[in-house]
Amino acid sequence: MVKVGIFGATGYAGYELVKAILRHPEAELVFASSTSYAGQRYKDVYPCPYDLPLIAPEEAPLEQVDVAFLCTPHGASAPLAQRVLQAGAKCIDLSADFRLRDPAIYARWYREHPVPQLINEAVYGLTEIYRQQIAQARLVANPGCYPTGPLLALYPFLRKNLVRGEQIIIDAKSGVSGAGAKPSLKTHFVNVHDSFSAYNVGRSHRHVPEMEQELSRYGEQPRQVIFTPHLLPISRGILSTIYVSLDPSWNQEQLLDLWHETYAGEPFIQILESGKLATLAHANYTNRCVLSLAPAGVEGRFILITAIDNLLKGASGQALQNMNVMFGLEETLGLVA
Ligand SMILES: NC(=O)c1ccc[n+]([C@@H]2O[C@H](COP(=O)([O-])OP(=O)(O)OC[C@H]3O[C@@H](n4cnc5c(N)ncnc54)[C@H](OP(=O)(O)O)[C@@H]3O)[C@@H](O)[C@H]2O)c1
Repeated sequence: MVKVGIFGATGYAGYELVKAILRHPEAELVFASSTSYAGQRYKDVYPCPYDLPLIAPEEAPLEQVDVAFLCTPHGASAPLAQRVLQAGAKCIDLSADFRLRDPAIYARWYREHPVPQLINEAVYGLTEIYRQQIAQARLVANPGCYPTGPLLALYPFLRKNLVRGEQIIIDAKSGVSGAGAKPSLKTHFVNVHDSFSAYNVGRSHRHVPEMEQELSRYGEQPRQVIFTPHLLPISRGILSTIYVSLDPSWNQEQLLDLWHETYAGEPFIQILESGKLATLAHANYTNRCVLSLAPAGVEGRFILITAIDNLLKGASGQALQNMNVMFGLEETLGLVA
């Protein structure tokens, strides 16, 4: 049995993880922490049957766990990761604190890094690509929700050097749970319902440097993304539409074959046949990343459409997939494929 602690168990990502750990046949939940609800029972915070105590993060019995998940905001995660590692447990951080390799880039987008000495040790937790490193890691930086789909879609083409031009356009739409449980004017029901809006346009979203870092690692040249996120008036799911120029000698069937070859045997990658396009209904409430593509109607240009559930493959599902890898367990345990 893998003994698990969850920091930030009362957030949206934390709730998904609590549910998944409780149904996982090889894991046991040792503690669940909250800042606002410490001292209360889980079933009194969420409409669920789980009669678990919620404890303050400072009281977490870290010496009793094998792994701790940090479903906590950036800035709060890094010092918690340090505590977890010092206690001898492994750590999977769902925040952005250890995703960026360069502390100067982190500082530009977030703040001065609170624990820069741990950055080099962190493994980027995109399971299908870094599985071997994740298996050996003490600290895993779970990917951001927006990057996950586009990175998985583009990786095979970048690795094969098929992508032409430096810039890739990514137009993505997310359900409101992507913004977390704390309400704001932007995510308030009345302001989201029956509307649809773009935000953080012009390369101003914090997932831009994360996507560029990763896309630039997969191929032979640096990549730049033009990224526009949108807020959908629904609770969950991310649909990303990616406009990319590819080697014009490759046709749609060959590109689909390359996806199939790269992701053969992957339990959480679903590739749609020619003529079908990914929808949120393909991915929501599962840990799948659904990939589809179509010619753009202009020579060499293709449109890739990916769908994930932001709270599962985009957060807690992928984090649990990584835990399974780190502890040598069947990768699908506790997850819906
Ligand atoms: N939502 C997504 O789709 C998504 C996807 C990928 C990654 N992520 C990342 O995953 C993390 C959690 O996201 P979320 O959407 O679940 O956020 P959330 O709903 O806002 O929940 C945050 C959780 O962290 C706790 N918390 C807040 N400040 C803390 C502190 N200083 N120390 C310890 N715990 C603290 C909160 O406790 P209380 O509320 O009990 O006070 C809550 O349980 C974030 O870093 C987010 O960027 C989220």
